[in-house]
Amino acid sequence: MRKINVFDTTLRDGEQSAGVNLNFEEKLEIARQLERLNVDIIEAGFPASSPGDFRSVKAIADTVRGCSVTGLSRSIQKDIDTSWEALRGGIEPRLHIFIATSPIHMVHKLKKSPEQVIETAVETVKYAAKFFPTIQWSAEDACRSDLNFLVRIIEQVIDAGASVINIPDTVGYITPHEIGHIFKYLKENVRNIDRAILSTHCHDDLGMAVANSLSAIEHGAGQVECTINGIGERAGNAALEEIAVALKIRSDYYHAQTRLKLHEIKRTSTLVSKLTGMVVPNNKAIIGANAFAHESGIHQDGVLKEKTTYEIITPELVGVSSNRMVLGKHSGRHAFKEKIKELGYSVNDEELNRLFIAFKDLADKKKEVTEEDIFAILTEERVAA
Ligand code: KIV
Ligand code: ZN
Repeated sequence: MRKINVFDTTLRDGEQSAGVNLNFEEKLEIARQLERLNVDIIEAGFPASSPGDFRSVKAIADTVRGCSVTGLSRSIQKDIDTSWEALRGGIEPRLHIFIATSPIHMVHKLKKSPEQVIETAVETVKYAAKFFPTIQWSAEDACRSDLNFLVRIIEQVIDAGASVINIPDTVGYITPHEIGHIFKYLKENVRNIDRAILSTHCHDDLGMAVANSLSAIEHGAGQVECTINGIGERAGNAALEEIAVALKIRSDYYHAQTRLKLHEIKRTSTLVSKLTGMVVPNNKAIIGANAFAHESGIHQDGVLKEKTTYEIITPELVGVSSNRMVLGKHSGRHAFKEKIKELGYSVNDEELNRLFIAFKDLADKKKEVTEEDIFAILTEERVAA
């Protein structure tokens, strides 16, 4: 099994979600929970962006001992100096420095030629190497960049001291097949790639961030960047919980694992949702309220006989206490009878038939039939407990 490093950016890219603003205590609380989850790297913020961010990145670096803490930096000396002040107390300080490499960004945003971009990247990585033991270098908008230009600049930043090379899909534009090709190409063509770890960082604008991250892993990424609940800039980042559980459940296919404590996933998700105010949709994979809920009669009957008929993940794996049988209009007699038993009643076949008719009648009028509704039916039909 290949080991995949998990780089969590909930506190940096995740906090860039519109409408989210975490205070100092909230950031520390999330960082402590990420440490419990056992991520490899926490991106705690962007120290040069504001005094508040500097303070929380520094506090997280000084507190967290179970993993590396990093902070984002533009390719300018002032940002590197500020980041070093914030991160130097960490157990393995890492700088995350970036510059854009796509023609669109170089022409319109940076107003620099490709040669000038290479020069700035090399100079700033060399400068950062005077302080930081680990330098992660990111080619912003890499997935819309020229591949041969990427090869050239990556070779030079590795020579300058970078040991992690991140290939972001900044605008969520790439497809799984294409990103696979990019990683394979870099692995095969960057002369000194054996001195660095390739990292993937995908955004979800076209809903493909997780699929793209998994494809990058399949084609050579040794680090994956993601956020809890997939929060992040615009449509968000790749969701950590989906990637980690996909690697675990389909280890037969990916042959790669993280060191995450998966049973901490639900708790981490709930904390991030509560503190950011970003609600998790019911149908969200792994952590949504319906992820382990069965409503249709055929599914309920199957799961009651043997869970693996319709469950590929056990709820306990991700820290959810049990699956849930939701009683609704598609539910069948088997689940209904189990619920009655669970509530402490025992009914004969004739009573069950009568109760089931009353239940179906109510289920047609409601989205979900609750335990209180079942009690009411039992009382109305005068069934003895
Ligand atoms: O999406 C992106 O390109 C980023 C970089 C700063 C790594 O978040
Ligand atoms: Zn990003």
